[in-house]
Amino acid sequence: MEYSYLNLDYQPDQEKEVLVTYRIRPLQGQSLEAAAEKVAAESSVGTWTPTVTLSDQIFHDLAARIYKINSADNLVQIAYPLGLFELGSLPQLGSGIMGNVFSMKDLEALRVEDIEFPETYINSFSGPAFGTAGIRQLLNIYSRPIIGSIIKPKIGLSPQDNAQLAYVVWSHGVDLVKDDENLTDLPINPFRERVVEVMKKQRLAEQESGQSKVYAFNVTAPVTQMLERGRWVAEAGGRCLMVDLVTTGWSGVQELRRAFPEMIIHGHRAGHSAFTRVPDHGLSMLVVAKMARLAGVDQLHTGTVVGKMEGSESEVVQINQFLSSAWGQQKTVLPIASGGLHPGMVPDLVKVLGLDLIINFGGGIHGHPDGSAAGAEAAQIAVAAVSQGQSIVEAAKTSPALARALDYWSD
Ligand code: 3PG
Ligand code: 3PG
Ligand code: MG
Repeated sequence: MEYSYLNLDYQPDQEKEVLVTYRIRPLQGQSLEAAAEKVAAESSVGTWTPTVTLSDQIFHDLAARIYKINSADNLVQIAYPLGLFELGSLPQLGSGIMGNVFSMKDLEALRVEDIEFPETYINSFSGPAFGTAGIRQLLNIYSRPIIGSIIKPKIGLSPQDNAQLAYVVWSHGVDLVKDDENLTDLPINPFRERVVEVMKKQRLAEQESGQSKVYAFNVTAPVTQMLERGRWVAEAGGRCLMVDLVTTGWSGVQELRRAFPEMIIHGHRAGHSAFTRVPDHGLSMLVVAKMARLAGVDQLHTGTVVGKMEGSESEVVQINQFLSSAWGQQKTVLPIASGGLHPGMVPDLVKVLGLDLIINFGGGIHGHPDGSAAGAEAAQIAVAAVSQGQSIVEAAKTSPALARALDYWSD
């Protein structure tokens, strides 16, 4: 018997179904409805041909239902019963609604634009351990963006030089320093040695400034090594583990969260554009952000709008709003703006994204013509001024470091 998954009268149950919004480009000459049927079948209980093994009962209990079609935008909304999903497993989520469907010859292109989950499903994941409030409490910073800096050059410094540079920028107003996405355990900068050297300097910077400081150590690696590196950081007294979410994979990220409930997890999204950037194929960054929050990331790179990474204003604002919204029992996630930022961009950045943010400067600190200390000072003064509603041009009158930064990156 042939079943239809299309039921535009169907009222989805938000408490019992996962609701997915797909953008589907059908084959030439094929209707959106027909293409949606193929997606609903393949991602729930069907396949390319009717099977004698699919009973009415199975179809009734577990089939996906296409409940809304917007032909103008090629958008299709499909409800999936919770029984199709393993609670607490992002790999299984991907295999179901983001799996075979991307490969089907019956469609030209397919994009997962959004997913809404029932509370039972949301609460089955660890979620963030700290969240925005926990990070702010640890740093004792409540009324301004947190200032981050990526060590540059991204690869090339020894552990000692890396630690010294972290110390310099911490001492000039930076709160959080991080490894770059491709710095892991390399001959020029072995991970364990970096942890030892950086933690010595972190303690020194904390003693001298009276402020808590954070270093995000990039533990990205195959899972066994990643967990070992996490333990080294924990033993040394570190507070934050950075992980490249896309290259590590969700299984690894979930495992990292489970193993280190006492650590802030910093989620870097390098590589996401391989599947988020094409407008009608892949996943939206919003979906990646939802998965990151389920997995337990506390702070997440989401876009800069004004910096070097693509991502429209409306998209980044929507993602950041989701991260700060109530979502089952899960804590909120602190968004990170990172990529191509310098002190002169802080007013626009805060205007668009608000103060609940980590602003990361790599080149925008270490590219300052007077050096990294001046770069850190310029960033700190710009963030302080904007957070108090003052103009950075005004603030630059009493800060030669900021004045130089504004002049140097003036276009
Ligand atoms: C697969 O996982 O490769 C598919 O489920 C194949 O199933 P089919 O032979 O019914 O297309
Ligand atoms: C990052 O990993 O977010 C980037 O290294 C940012 O570096 P940039 O500020 O030099 O672009
Ligand atoms: Mg980087």
